[in-house]
Amino acid sequence: MPETTYINGYHPSVLATHNARTAQNSCQFLLPTLSTLSTTHASFSLLDAGCGPASITISLALLFPAARITALDLSSKALEPGRHAAKQQNVSNIEFKEGNVYTLPFADEIFDVVHAQQLLCHLPDPIKAIAELLRVTKKGGVLALREADTRAIFFYPELPLLKKNWELFAKTMEGEGNTGDTSAGRKLRKWVRSAGVKEEEVRCSAGTWCYSSEVERVAFGEAWMERVVESEFAVKVVEQGLATKQEMAEIREGWREWSQDPDGWLCIPHGEALITNI
Ligand SMILES: C[S@@+](CC[C@H](N)C(=O)[O-])C[C@H]1O[C@@H](n2cnc3c(N)ncnc32)[C@H](O)[C@@H]1O
Repeated sequence: MPETTYINGYHPSVLATHNARTAQNSCQFLLPTLSTLSTTHASFSLLDAGCGPASITISLALLFPAARITALDLSSKALEPGRHAAKQQNVSNIEFKEGNVYTLPFADEIFDVVHAQQLLCHLPDPIKAIAELLRVTKKGGVLALREADTRAIFFYPELPLLKKNWELFAKTMEGEGNTGDTSAGRKLRKWVRSAGVKEEEVRCSAGTWCYSSEVERVAFGEAWMERVVESEFAVKVVEQGLATKQEMAEIREGWREWSQDPDGWLCIPHGEALITNI
């Protein structure tokens, strides 16, 4: 039975990094397809699976106000802030739904577009999830997947405390009893092909998130400063004996140093796959 918990949890410091995501900074590989679709079929249906606090979903809804969007997540701890944010931005074309990507509560072939971002990297069986996402995608519709490759994160200055941060992140994602994969980005093509998608149906690409300006650095750095001492990540690292509380407090200071450095720069590479469900 696939695991159905989300390892990173829903601490405000985790949701803060999710909330910085938009269609513009996270869906460039999908936006041209949506723009074309909207010219012939403005009321297209879109499922955002594993939507988290729905910042990407909401920006898609704002870009395509006639689209009928469903935002699905495993947890109300992600959906509630999403609902609240949608209301605050007067977005009314999103229906929020609790559900599991392994057993989606929808009939076959009902969405024109299905999007899942930063979801498969947390799952013990990403191939089963892709098959289920394809099941609900219309024939001729599009499944868009994007996954970070956190093993390949690179940054400047190369502070040892930040290196330690990402080593611990990988250990908690992939260590004993955990189900994540920090190489998800580079494996996306393999997973998609393993789910039965044919060569002519899939187009793979790469994208990045880059934190460089003072505003970006401070927002990302401050969220991680909190995350390393207060979130489920901090608790797991200490519980599993990977680092002490004192060491985590030192990593927090590493994030402070990086975020305050005008030369600071950090890049998270991603794998992307755009599949036409033939
Ligand atoms: C890293 S967040 C990504 C949120 C959003 N897609 C984004 O990129 O900002 C992963 C989300 O997947 C959800 N999730 C994890 N396992 C799931 C499952 N089996 N079914 C549905 N959602 C799941 C978690 O609750 C979490 O909100």
